[in-house]
Amino acid sequence: MKLEDLEEASPPSTVTYAKLLEKIEMIRSSVRWAQSMDRPELQKILTHCNTLRDEMMQLSYKERLVNFSASEKLPIVKESPSQKTGKKRKQELLERNFIFEGVFGESPVLLEALEIAEKAAPTTLPVLIDGESGTGKELMAKVIHNNSSRSGQPYVSINCGAIPESLIESELFGHKKGAFTGATSDRKGKFESADGGTIFLDEIGELPLQGQVKLLRVLQSNELQRVGSDQVTYVDARIVAATNRDLLEMSKKGLFREDLYYRLSVINVTLPPLRERRDEITLLREYFSAEAAEQLHVRPLLLSPRLQTFLQHYEYPGNIRELRNLIYRISCLAGGGVGDIEHLPDSIRPGNAKPGLSKKSHRPSLLEQPLADIKKEAADAAEKLYLEQGLTEEAGKVAKFARRVNMNRSHLWTLLKKHGLNADDYKQSTAGS
Ligand SMILES: Nc1ncnc2c1ncn2[C@@H]1O[C@H](COP(=O)(O)OP(=O)(O)OP(=O)(O)O)[C@@H](O)[C@H]1O
Ligand SMILES: [Mg+2]
Repeated sequence: MKLEDLEEASPPSTVTYAKLLEKIEMIRSSVRWAQSMDRPELQKILTHCNTLRDEMMQLSYKERLVNFSASEKLPIVKESPSQKTGKKRKQELLERNFIFEGVFGESPVLLEALEIAEKAAPTTLPVLIDGESGTGKELMAKVIHNNSSRSGQPYVSINCGAIPESLIESELFGHKKGAFTGATSDRKGKFESADGGTIFLDEIGELPLQGQVKLLRVLQSNELQRVGSDQVTYVDARIVAATNRDLLEMSKKGLFREDLYYRLSVINVTLPPLRERRDEITLLREYFSAEAAEQLHVRPLLLSPRLQTFLQHYEYPGNIRELRNLIYRISCLAGGGVGDIEHLPDSIRPGNAKPGLSKKSHRPSLLEQPLADIKKEAADAAEKLYLEQGLTEEAGKVAKFARRVNMNRSHLWTLLKKHGLNADDYKQSTAGS
């Protein structure tokens, strides 16, 4: 359909700017979820949709002016983000043509991160993204690049934690032939490859101090020297860094340069853990089910009510990545049928948790975690065991269980939810056994 046809099909009085954008977003998401197209074909259509959306933005410029002059005489009261609903903020981000590959919900903590990213993207300011593992830091780095004027230029990613300390500088800044054993020719580093575009420095907290000094120089003067060379090279790479560590705390211990921290974190985007943006769980579940169905060639996953309840209330220490892996696992094991609790891994399946150290063989040394975390884990495990025992002994009758232990019933429900326990499961198991 041509743009003219679109105009004819919908009279101007009923077509609003927001509605048109919404329609285009719908095309975008249905194309993204289509199962029978191959990737290049899909990419082509997505590109067309993006162009169409850009054209729409221009077309609607006139309409926006008309709206503006019509409301000119009214006093303009600008709402602060806190006065707007999450729905409205999300809608506005989409209307402003904010490109996000993935889905996002309406929780204020996440919207704030997205709004900061949106404002930072068109600038060349360095951005530091922090958040727990699996919260989408890498995805956010790409979002920033894709929303910048550098989007047609290279996006180069490097994981500072995955490269041996002796090679990291050469990887980042390049080397001169003969600079060290194995340096058989001149080689440019990731910074030079990212010239004109964006470099994503993942796990920046793992960068050794020596490399931090060189990075500081690039930030200050856009200059670098390849390892073993005196020649100064000018690079123009926009820096986006990510970490799941507390860099300020590290700098107090002398493990991270404080001046570098302040240079990197001119703009700071914090991604909240999934348990603090639970409204997104359903969206992500559907998104990953469609993705898994396409990859595994099965029908999109259906979930039993008790598995839905579990997924909605689970804590997700591995955040979005963990949810994604769970959906792929369940899609595979359920083979196009209905996913249920039995398809969850043993370690998190309700009713399977053992207290304390019973899974010792699968656990790393306790000393690798802070004592406070160990205590919390043990307390949570004990609480869960207590609830499971109560549900078993009272055959899933929550009111009876609450009376027996003299606990407020709604508090007991809250605790059951927190641990993803479903009283009905215990009714069945008693009846069946
Ligand atoms: N909002 C989202 N919509 C869809 N998928 C998402 C979203 N956020 C994250 N993901 C997916 O979740 C997975 C983890 O995200 P990502 O790798 O960006 O996390 P991370 O914070 O960089 O993790 P780590 O600290 O472990 O490196 C990826 O597969 C990513 O595509
Ligand atoms: Mg990452």
